[in-house]
Amino acid sequence: MRTQVAIIGAGPAGLLLGQLLHRANIDAVIVERKSANYVLSRIRAGVLEQGTVNLLHEAGVADRLRSEGIVHEGAEIESVGARHRIDFKGLTGKTVTIYGQTEVTADLMTAREASDAPTIYEADEVRLHDIDSRFPRVSYVKDGVRAEIACDFIAGCDGFHGVCRQSIPADAWQAHERIYPFGWLGLLVEKPPIDKELVYINHLRGFALCSMRSSHRSRYYLQCTLAERVEEWPDERFWRELSARLDPALATRLQIGSSIEKSIAPLRSFVAEPLRYGNLFLAGDAAHIVPPTGAKGLNLAASDVFYLWQALREHYRTGSNTALDQYSSRALARVWKAERFSWWMTHLLHRFPGATSFEQKIQEAELSYLFQSEAAQKVLAENYVGLPY
Ligand code: APR
Ligand code: PHB
Repeated sequence: MRTQVAIIGAGPAGLLLGQLLHRANIDAVIVERKSANYVLSRIRAGVLEQGTVNLLHEAGVADRLRSEGIVHEGAEIESVGARHRIDFKGLTGKTVTIYGQTEVTADLMTAREASDAPTIYEADEVRLHDIDSRFPRVSYVKDGVRAEIACDFIAGCDGFHGVCRQSIPADAWQAHERIYPFGWLGLLVEKPPIDKELVYINHLRGFALCSMRSSHRSRYYLQCTLAERVEEWPDERFWRELSARLDPALATRLQIGSSIEKSIAPLRSFVAEPLRYGNLFLAGDAAHIVPPTGAKGLNLAASDVFYLWQALREHYRTGSNTALDQYSSRALARVWKAERFSWWMTHLLHRFPGATSFEQKIQEAELSYLFQSEAAQKVLAENYVGLPY
């Protein structure tokens, strides 16, 4: 098989790139290790920046987002009983939209099916070949038979554990990484959210987040230790611990129920640099990871895809490689600012085991300053709604 762009991974990054390329009349084949249903069963964040929403419109996959997405003009931060609303709209003129990553993925899969563009699911042993040449190839095993795709470019959209980044010689890229000494225990429940907006909580017992997917589905998180296992957290224990971290007025509004999903995720900051090797381009989680505080993961995947789509379009329309050559530096300039913000918000809101009294006092001063200073709130709001592309 031959195509112009071989996309590895059918997560949001790969599917969005595939859809944008399809609309630009550029051929792409998507190769995914798992089944479509497996990809759709992964529960991830659900806060879309305006830039991400705009790109989904541009890709022609925003009909359901338009009718079901919930626009939020602010979010609340609570610290040791004091609650403060950050007015995104008032401070920046911008908003965010609540719409689950699972829904974004489902909409992209529907569009891809309708377009008849090829997607190979359940492809085993995906390998990249000759990526530093003008004739790169991708091979994989499907139903026991090895097949090959010849292409001009490979888009590595295969997530943090994928094969693409690992295919780059060790001396041709650098990893920048921070691992945090805690995780997030998440629970999804078919009950109305506790509040109209998201509530981020810094509590003595640890961080908590009250989020939502819709007016009848809520998502809650608790900071937990890395040693903890989901089995140790029956629903009753989760609800008890969450209530203990909420201020009493908020706790009385909590509607509990049986969890639909419960999982623990570690927190990590990671950036691979550069994002290009030969004709392989990394995008999304394959290239970088942020801790979930601030919900930047999907939004960063979208901005990478925006730059890569523009660069590939320029190449095929004009023959120019200028934007392809600039892809890594353009994408990374935005990535690093979101990495900084996610790292900062993680430090602001979590309890760090072994923190010195000095570190604890600095965190309290940072929160107090945020609550008192409109300038500080504006900095948070500007980053939360998303920096420009
Ligand atoms: N071959 C083919 N596909 C692979 C391989 C492989 N060797 N390894 C992984 N994949 C697939 C995964 O099964 C997954 O479906 O690549 C896809 C990567 O998708 P995501 O992990 O969702 O990453 P991305 O599309 O970059 O989306 C970024 O999703 O992971 C969240 O927090 C992240 O919200 C952010 C967004
Ligand atoms: C979520 O709804 O899953 C979510 C929301 C905001 C975050 C992280 C996760 O910062």
